[in-house]
Amino acid sequence: MSHAPCPIVVLISGNGSNLQALIDKSATGDYAICGVISNNIDAFGLERAARAGIPTRVIRHQEFPDRESFDRRLIAEIDSFAPALVVLAGFMRILSAAFVSHYAGRVLNIHPSLLPLYRGTHTHERVLEAGEKEHGVSVHFVTEELDGGPVVLQAVVPVLAGDTRDVLAARVSQQEHRIYPRAVSLFAAGRLRMQDNDAWLDGERLAANGLREYAT
Ligand code: GAR
Repeated sequence: MSHAPCPIVVLISGNGSNLQALIDKSATGDYAICGVISNNIDAFGLERAARAGIPTRVIRHQEFPDRESFDRRLIAEIDSFAPALVVLAGFMRILSAAFVSHYAGRVLNIHPSLLPLYRGTHTHERVLEAGEKEHGVSVHFVTEELDGGPVVLQAVVPVLAGDTRDVLAARVSQQEHRIYPRAVSLFAAGRLRMQDNDAWLDGERLAANGLREYAT
């Protein structure tokens, strides 16, 4: 039996390579991208969306006096698309408590580290400086705790001798593009949800690291 694809809105701030992966996989996923919103007018992701025929909006945070008023406008724009899920794909803004509670259990984020390790920015540099042997990427539900919501999927990559920041970032990025469309598809298919601050897949509570895979 066929059913309507799950409508999603993607929020971006920059390059949009994860948005591109979501666009490329949307033909076979259970989701449809109904809108893309950026806080940065120069984000290349806006061009990717336009090329794919997806409506775009720009809301410049500099034009708002505070986080709360920016977030109120963001909520209004997102809700005009009536999405079932909000997907943060390199959206480099901290979200207010009001935003998070408005979409409780309906926001996913991708973060370039094996959470709870290396929250925040410059993760690849920090991993190299610390001499870690492993690094990776996490998809998680968004809660009020920054980079702290329940993890859904993680892909682990090795840190190899001689890695530069860019080489390591590319290795992680390749995994991002693989696991993010998968996590979104699982949500869209009704298999993934957040409950009691945990991620659940097919009715089973996931472990703290979510589903963890080792990239080969
Ligand atoms: C990605 O690496 C994503 O994991 C990261 O921003 C990049 C966006 O790339 N997100 C965060 O750091 C969120 N804390 P993209 O614009 O090419 O998708």
